[in-house]
Amino acid sequence: MARDPLLRLDAVSKIFDTGTVGLENVDLDIGHGEFVSLLGPSGCGKTTSLRLMAGFEMPTSGRVLLDGQDITALRPYDRPVNTVFQDYALFPHMDVAENVGFGLSLRKLSGADIKRRVTEALELVGLADKIHARVSMLSGGQRQRVALARALVCSPRVLLLDEPLSALDANLREQMQIELKRLQARLGTTFVMVTHDQTEALSISDRIVVMNRGRIEQIATPAELYDAPATRFVANFIGTMNLLEGKVLEATAQTHRIAAGPMTFDIAPCDPGRAPAAGAPALVCIRPEEITVFPAPSDGALPAQVVSTVFYGPMLRVFAEIGGGQKLMIDTPRRTAAAAFEPGALIYVRPNAGCGRMLEP
Ligand SMILES: Nc1ncnc2c1ncn2[C@@H]1O[C@H](COP(=O)(O)OP(=O)(O)OP(=O)(O)O)[C@@H](O)[C@H]1O
Ligand SMILES: [Mg+2]
Repeated sequence: MARDPLLRLDAVSKIFDTGTVGLENVDLDIGHGEFVSLLGPSGCGKTTSLRLMAGFEMPTSGRVLLDGQDITALRPYDRPVNTVFQDYALFPHMDVAENVGFGLSLRKLSGADIKRRVTEALELVGLADKIHARVSMLSGGQRQRVALARALVCSPRVLLLDEPLSALDANLREQMQIELKRLQARLGTTFVMVTHDQTEALSISDRIVVMNRGRIEQIATPAELYDAPATRFVANFIGTMNLLEGKVLEATAQTHRIAAGPMTFDIAPCDPGRAPAAGAPALVCIRPEEITVFPAPSDGALPAQVVSTVFYGPMLRVFAEIGGGQKLMIDTPRRTAAAAFEPGALIYVRPNAGCGRMLEP
């Protein structure tokens, strides 16, 4: 990031009156025009982070900065930040225009200005024809758009979204994800979105912040997070991962040879300056789709016994056991003969060349 970040959490902690730790010493920089998602299990501090950015919550220690300016003490309405709440928080007795224009009327804009900006905001979210509709007559997806228009109408520098799509059914949700991403790209506004849906975070974010117990585990692009989880928590949380306990056979600056049960991996080290000692314990991460399965013996493939299978539409997930009690998940395209994967069947498995990463246990 060449420029200063737009939004910065600087060593922010939040301890509630109850003694519960909401956030613990969190540092986070969000760039101009970025789409950042906060992802993590329930109670990890996502909403708390968003409320601190919005000004609904004060940190116990640390600072919130916008464009280098300390805004920690600024009230929500004095920050150029707007929030879309999970339940949309629309006023049911007002029509769409009144809902969207509410923030502008508080700012004492003229009626003509309010009308123009409300119309623009509704056009942005594709709801111009519903301007005089009662909110109670709208569908879930339409309400979601009204909430979005209401937050965007004040032209915030940062838009905060707390689980904005969680009330929508799967199809509508997917459609709104695409729309949200398009809208953000078009406006160039910085979006910070809370979600506990990893598919959603992976598909629409520029960067993802993975949180766990009030701390940040990793901040990375979706592809980096998927391909190179930095911690065991992230490896387990993002996608499906085989985590194999093993030990280092030999480690040089170029490659680490690791044995995990009967399998051997040659792994390019992430940090060539830090080779582990031979014999040290190591954890190998490999995705189910990075392992090839054969119904009959094949060069370099190890025998394994099928325990069970799960049908996932485009592919089949095979749960198998290799020697030494090591369990393995393998994803295979469905064209492979299903009969080969009856429980108890013998199959042959081989990690794809260059796949697998090492984590220190
Ligand atoms: N006002 C509050 N008073 C006391 N504890 C709180 C308060 N708000 C949040 N917490 C606690 O702080 C922790 C983080 O809560 P937070 O709402 O940020 O979680 P979250 O990641 O948004 O979870 P979810 O996915 O369930 O919405 C939780 O342990 C929660 O119980
Ligand atoms: Mg929450």
